[in-house]
Amino acid sequence: MKKSKGRPAIAEGQKIAGAKTRFDRPRVAVAIMAAGKGTRLKSQIPKVLHEVAGKPLLEHVIRAAVRIAAPTDVYAIIGYEAERVRQAMQPTGINFVLQADQRGTGHALMVARDALSGYDHVIVLSGDAPLITPETISSLLDFHLDQHASMTLLSADLANPTGYGRVLRKGASSAEVQAIVEEKSASLAQKKIHEINSGFYCFLGKDLYGNIDGLSTDNPHSEYYLTDMAGVLRRARKRVVAWKTSNPGEVLGGNTRAELADIDHFLRMAKARQLMTDGVTIYYPATCVIDADVSVAPDSVVEPYVQLLGTTRIGAGCRVRSYSVIRDCEIGDNVIIRPGCVMSESRIGARAEIGPYTHLRPGSDIGEGAHLGNFVETKKIKLGKGSKANHLTYLGDAEIGAGVNVGAGTITCNYDGAHKHKTVIEDEVFVGSDTTLVAPVHVGKGAYIAAASCITDDVPRDALALGRARQVLKEGWAAQKRAEKKS
Ligand code: UD1
Ligand code: CA
Repeated sequence: MKKSKGRPAIAEGQKIAGAKTRFDRPRVAVAIMAAGKGTRLKSQIPKVLHEVAGKPLLEHVIRAAVRIAAPTDVYAIIGYEAERVRQAMQPTGINFVLQADQRGTGHALMVARDALSGYDHVIVLSGDAPLITPETISSLLDFHLDQHASMTLLSADLANPTGYGRVLRKGASSAEVQAIVEEKSASLAQKKIHEINSGFYCFLGKDLYGNIDGLSTDNPHSEYYLTDMAGVLRRARKRVVAWKTSNPGEVLGGNTRAELADIDHFLRMAKARQLMTDGVTIYYPATCVIDADVSVAPDSVVEPYVQLLGTTRIGAGCRVRSYSVIRDCEIGDNVIIRPGCVMSESRIGARAEIGPYTHLRPGSDIGEGAHLGNFVETKKIKLGKGSKANHLTYLGDAEIGAGVNVGAGTITCNYDGAHKHKTVIEDEVFVGSDTTLVAPVHVGKGAYIAAASCITDDVPRDALALGRARQVLKEGWAAQKRAEKKS
């Protein structure tokens, strides 16, 4: 590396004079309210575990949160089916606080007092509003810090504000907020306000916990409303402000099944648009279901009614035809997937051709240029380069070499009722149609298996194996039978 003149090089990790260290920054926690049951969903599954774009609502919110703070400074407040929620979100590495009885959003923050009161600022997010972006949270925090506010809420103008809390500003052009009034308690005039409370906030930690005991349950739901902190802090002569987002779509919550469908559609379309921007052709994108973590390389074509799920990765120049459902698969370049294929946890090499109606079950590793056709099912197999199994076949627990032809109707009998056994077929073997291979069995390189054979013993290299009864012929038998029937 060239040394720059005049200045000494800075060693890694060395403090640079004038730059802020992490100790200069205020300590910020993110609390995610996720304890509610979600009564309006009429479900056994807790609301925050309902999925949009293939992931639970709460996971979307956590993903945004950990872009703002370290996972160790993120706290999900959980209650309804808490253990189930905690287990599902454990891999994110965040903390959990239990709100055993769910007595409102204000109560959620009360029970988190021990966890949160050591922080300078507390950002509060809703576990049921998954469209929030790290950029918006960050802007909210910046505004809160600039304003030296005790409470800053994120607001939005909605064409239809029904159901949301309304923001009562001190004056039309004032940043300051007088109070938030919930739909159920709002007067007719207040219901006409279109500026709504999004359910995202920043609090000055010491003011939040210095005043939270001022909340009461004097409202139609008899709950502690976090929204009432606006009024409580105002009365304590603290500064309460609102920052209005220009992306009202980000505040939408999934309180009902219809709202979940709207959010899912929004996220799916955003994903499809991103892939199209990146060079993928998608016909009728609104009919496709593509999860957030899926990747597709340029010049691949996705036909209508395709589902690409989980961590599926598709190479360049592929074509995925209609009605295929692909989960957690890795697909090379220039692969053709014909209509109606179902595949999961499998790998497909470049230039392979699959389908129509092929079922790849977990652990299928399909070699370059291989062909799998109609009604072929595979599980835990390795299929070599250029090998073919084109019709009506089951291949399970098998290792199949390159250049192998597997005839129509071939079956690996891999299960003896108690244990699974392996079939090995070496390179360039020809397996005649309607062969059953009773595992464990080994077929040597270049061997030839006659059609309709039941192969129970190993076949050596270059041999012919016949495993069926010799044909019997009875001349005139059928004609005689017909004559007997007539008389
Ligand atoms: C809340 C706001 C409302 C705002 C709206 C935006 C209150 C009182 N109202 O209403 O002003 O317009 O969000 O979406 O806050 N939760 C807990 N513990 C509880 C109760 C709720 O953790 O005891 C969680 C829920 O799981 C949910 C979040 O808090 O993730 C919001 O609760 P929810 O009941 O959905 O509030 P909204 O009626 O939507
Ligand atoms: Ca809500």
